[in-house]
Amino acid sequence: MIDLHIRSEQPGDAAAIAALLHAAFAGNPHSNHTEHLIVERLRASGHLAVSLAALLPEGRLIGHVAFSKVAIDGRDEGWYGLGPLAVLPQVQGQGVGTALVEAGLSVLRRKGARGCVVLGEPGYYGRFGFAQDAGLRYPGPPPEYFLALAFDSPAPQGVVAYDSAFAEPEALP
Ligand SMILES: CC(C)(COP(=O)(O)OP(=O)(O)OC[C@H]1O[C@@H](n2cnc3c(N)ncnc32)[C@H](O)[C@@H]1OP(=O)(O)O)[C@@H](O)C(=O)NCCC(=O)NCCS
Repeated sequence: MIDLHIRSEQPGDAAAIAALLHAAFAGNPHSNHTEHLIVERLRASGHLAVSLAALLPEGRLIGHVAFSKVAIDGRDEGWYGLGPLAVLPQVQGQGVGTALVEAGLSVLRRKGARGCVVLGEPGYYGRFGFAQDAGLRYPGPPPEYFLALAFDSPAPQGVVAYDSAFAEPEALP
């Protein structure tokens, strides 16, 4: 396990986070390479609810995870969406992503969140307890990739909508 420090995003991290998102998603066929724009839009609107950075002891930023509120049938039910999650390619597979997700979920619980959704690989997010929930619908992607984790009571039912920052930001050249 890599020697890691995880902390909240600080002023001055934005450029390193954007560079990390570029690098991490460059080879991802499911990405439209706008993750840095999503995070920037969330930050600018004050909707970046949780933003955690993973740093090496010397201070290099090698991982990042963002969480933002989601609406369920248009209502705020205290649920959040995880994403994007990114780890620098050179240090993937060493537990950085796992540590970021676990830390982020802990922060959400401490904030009084009721649950979290993620659009991602069931084989990865299943390890944190995320699973398909028939009552929570996310139109578009195959339903097996839309996963939920309820923190206390069962998940509310309805259609989930992410923050408008996720709505087709223009891809940079
Ligand atoms: C996905 C990502 C964040 C994982 O971070 P990481 O630090 O490499 O992951 P960890 O070291 O904590 O976990 C590694 C484990 O996850 C598995 N894993 C990694 N990516 C996976 C994927 N896409 N699907 C299924 N399993 C995956 C590895 O096989 C490994 O499994 P093991 O523990 O059984 O050996 C990282 O690979 C990444 O930044 N990828 C590019 C960006 C991306 O796809 N982000 C997620 C979009 S929501």
